[in-house]
Amino acid sequence: MNPGKKFYITTPLYYVNASPHIGHAYTTLAADILARHHRSKGRAVHLLTGTDEHGSKIEEVALAAGVEPRAYADKIAAEFAEMWKHLEVLHDDFIRTTQTRHVTRVQAAFEHLLAKGDIYKGIYKGYYCVACETYWTETEAPPDGDSGMRRCPNEGCGKELKLTEEESYFFKLSKYAAPLLEHYEKNPGFLMPRSRSLEIVNFVKEGLRDLAVSRTKVRWGIPVASDPKHVVYVWFDALQNYITATGYRPPGMKDAEGEDHSQELWPADIHFVGKEIFRFHAVIWPAMLMALGAPLPKCVYAHGWWTVEGQKMSKSKGNFVNPREITNEYGVDVFRYHLFREMPFGNDGDFSVEKLKQRYNAELANDLGNLVSRVTNMVEKYLDGVLPENPPAEKLETTPRVETAGPAVDAAIEAVDLQEALNRIWAEVGRLNRLVNEKEPWKLAKTDPEAVKWLLCDLVFSLRLIGGWISPFMPEISSKILAALGADGGKIEKAPPLFPRKD
Ligand code: MSP
Repeated sequence: MNPGKKFYITTPLYYVNASPHIGHAYTTLAADILARHHRSKGRAVHLLTGTDEHGSKIEEVALAAGVEPRAYADKIAAEFAEMWKHLEVLHDDFIRTTQTRHVTRVQAAFEHLLAKGDIYKGIYKGYYCVACETYWTETEAPPDGDSGMRRCPNEGCGKELKLTEEESYFFKLSKYAAPLLEHYEKNPGFLMPRSRSLEIVNFVKEGLRDLAVSRTKVRWGIPVASDPKHVVYVWFDALQNYITATGYRPPGMKDAEGEDHSQELWPADIHFVGKEIFRFHAVIWPAMLMALGAPLPKCVYAHGWWTVEGQKMSKSKGNFVNPREITNEYGVDVFRYHLFREMPFGNDGDFSVEKLKQRYNAELANDLGNLVSRVTNMVEKYLDGVLPENPPAEKLETTPRVETAGPAVDAAIEAVDLQEALNRIWAEVGRLNRLVNEKEPWKLAKTDPEAVKWLLCDLVFSLRLIGGWISPFMPEISSKILAALGADGGKIEKAPPLFPRKD
């Protein structure tokens, strides 16, 4: 492997038809947590996110709003960028599929595949879901018993399909079924979690049909350079962002805007996606890369879906949760914490404000916040805010025990088992709370000040470990805790409340 290679993490490119909500935030925050973790270990990391701006879906909403698709895209892309800033996401790049650096590379890749014979011209006749930007066949989407209407079979979609017949270019996806199956077999970590990979393998085993990759009925897209009445099918366009963003040049492309950093970045180490777009990333995208002769990503990780107060989020219900509704009341870090403590990564889960509040009061205000404030208060009171320097190892009983959880926390984060990482950390928080309750240092202070000194020292050192471990999840709270614990060498003073109680 190239020694300068960075750990390259991506999120999906979000459609610019609607404002960011908690579902988008979830994926991006998972990517940010993993990125922060690796950075904290001194590894070079590159986190890419961005927006998917072409296609009929965007064309339609812009038309309905009476604005040009580009203006519509500009507005929503800016909202996404602001949201990531607000949520403390540290991304290294933000790609928009309308940027020249992407457009020219997609065009070059298309021409290369055309010349190679992996793309050919034909007629597409079948069904199309605008909401999912997906083609469906008659058999995949049989007519409804009563209405005879065909609906999108995607889980949670069910929108009416459009029958379309148009001249199209096709990508020879069928040719890649066998190589894909071989790749899945040889690389068991490629499709994650395992529980979702079987479905993909079975799907590919059924055989793959060639994929229509251009449209003549849509204007808002990347024109095929050699035949501009066609625009590139939006998924065939958007999937390539992960590699166009690296500056990669498809075979045959000489000049290109932007530097070629593909050696530093490609192949991606992990693509984070929601379960509904797993198939695009697990089947179409690797086949495209095979056709281009580029290495495949190391892993595609599909997580589950959030419902809100038991309901699917939808336009008709108008129940999309804007993360700001939560962060205005509880702060950004609490939102970040709740999402990953609540739902095991990979499963589905339900977001409820009541549950968030319970967690806030119990796990954050009480278990963690109180512990930090009690400990810092006692260090101020009994030790004048100063810890003994270089305490002898035998005086610290708990710190080494807490320390042993470190590798398990790291391993859980690296396996993207983010809930497990938090569970491990909170098990240690629990250990420290029990210690304080058992030893009752406020009583001990009267009888054995020496013992209190070492006990507080033990607690502060243990808490510093915990303060560090939570930093990928709660970066701001982590800094506050570490500062309160004098981790930077300062005096220890009673910490201001980290989580004011909510009733
Ligand atoms: N534009 C495509 C992706 C192209 S990637 C080359 C797209 N965009 S999207 O705006 O619809 O975003 C979908 C992604 O947002 C999901 O895959 C998931 O990451 C996230 N989520 C959207 N709703 C979600 C939930 N209700 N719950 C969890 N994540 C969800 O698809």
